[in-house]
Amino acid sequence: MLWLLFLTLPGLGSSVPVTPGPGPGRELVGIVGGCDVSARRYPWQVSLRFYNSKRRQWVHQCGGSLIHPQWVLTAAHCMEPENMTPSKAGVQVGQLRLYDHRKLTMVKQVIRHPKFNSSQGAKGGADIALLRLEAPVTLSADVNLVLLPPASLRVPERKMCWVTGWGNINYKSPLPPPYHLQEVEVPIVGKEVCNQRYQKVEKNPRPIKEDMLCAGSEGRDSCQGDSGGPLVCSWNCTWVQVGVVSWGHQCGLRDFPGVYARVTSYMSWISQHVRLSPGS
Ligand code: ARG
Repeated sequence: MLWLLFLTLPGLGSSVPVTPGPGPGRELVGIVGGCDVSARRYPWQVSLRFYNSKRRQWVHQCGGSLIHPQWVLTAAHCMEPENMTPSKAGVQVGQLRLYDHRKLTMVKQVIRHPKFNSSQGAKGGADIALLRLEAPVTLSADVNLVLLPPASLRVPERKMCWVTGWGNINYKSPLPPPYHLQEVEVPIVGKEVCNQRYQKVEKNPRPIKEDMLCAGSEGRDSCQGDSGGPLVCSWNCTWVQVGVVSWGHQCGLRDFPGVYARVTSYMSWISQHVRLSPGS
């Protein structure tokens, strides 16, 4: 899961980091250049669950994001093997703590990107999948859609964005109970720099492809269990999902940012399957 956790989100909705609290002499009557603060920060975040017959439980496996009342965007490598039965998968929406209450929405159809290559896994690229839910979920303060970018959107290097999930808090440390959703702010890392770094992984150099996006810095990253979850950045006070958690070399290492599927590369594929509402 995420690094540099905001371990306890005081009063949840009030933990919005964008606007500094009022300092001395400043009054709480308005903000110059600020953004509207929503009560729940990540209402599009979903937990992707698979039934584990040994544990007799639907276990969290990956993250995902709600892009339409009936569609979830996630990573293709979360939906393995290729011929898996959709009925083995469910999503939990509108929940901050995993397993708090259980209201799964079942998955009816899994569409993995046709260029995703199982034998190469996430590192091969096209690590993106769409899940059609059995029925549309009801939108509310806790459950809402994330906006997707226009295909032409450029995500500038060093822009600060946010990634969320219930994955490990360290390379080998799972998120402890009560499994509260974590967020961390990560800088976008340029493709060349990221590619250079990943050429240096001994035994296993991996090129960063056009359809990948790097983000993260030392101690700030996504990790195992966050896969499929959203990387969002704010443009004009609106959160836009630019990445899907995909892979990395361990987690939070200084020289190895997290690697994300670049959402802009897949906008036309997504809109072939999902009728996105205007504005998305
Ligand atoms: N592949 C991992 C998963 O399935 C995500 C790894 C992300 N790693 C990183 N260092 N950002 O959950």
